[in-house]
Amino acid sequence: MSSEDVTFTLNGKPVRAAVNDVDTLVDALRQNCGVAGVRVGCRNGDCGSCTAMVDDECVKTCLMLAGRARGSEVVTLEGIGSLDHPHPVQIAFMEHYAFQCGFCLPGMVLSTISLLARIPHPDETEIRDALSGNLCRCTGYENIVKAVQRAAQLLQQPAR
Ligand code: FES
Ligand code: FES
Repeated sequence: MSSEDVTFTLNGKPVRAAVNDVDTLVDALRQNCGVAGVRVGCRNGDCGSCTAMVDDECVKTCLMLAGRARGSEVVTLEGIGSLDHPHPVQIAFMEHYAFQCGFCLPGMVLSTISLLARIPHPDETEIRDALSGNLCRCTGYENIVKAVQRAAQLLQQPAR
């Protein structure tokens, strides 16, 4: 096992992380960069809790070696919104009580942002399909679908 320094952009800021060649991006983000908005669930690509955006694509970071992030733009939930200025998707999830424990929430929010960038007005089938890689143990998904529909509305409204 060898180690290397990997540099990439994380939520708009340059970062350098010393990683081993077997380290995954989720571990580098959490352990080297102090990011809590990627969560470790299954570690095998099933649950989506570790989702981040890498070069504008949603990626399950437990399946990506950290070294492959070199030179990339990585965005996690921390780069999306804040308590004072939540992203419209976060507002919609709060309005519809679309989460309970919140473990799945970062992945759900990022996958929703990615979906709405591709399909601004998705139907229910498209929403369920887009979120099929993000598992939620708590909500039963009904309110998540409503939240995504609401987020689509909010994103169409002019910014205030
Ligand atoms: S921890 Fe990556 S998909 Fe579950
Ligand atoms: S809110 Fe608990 S896993 Fe989704």
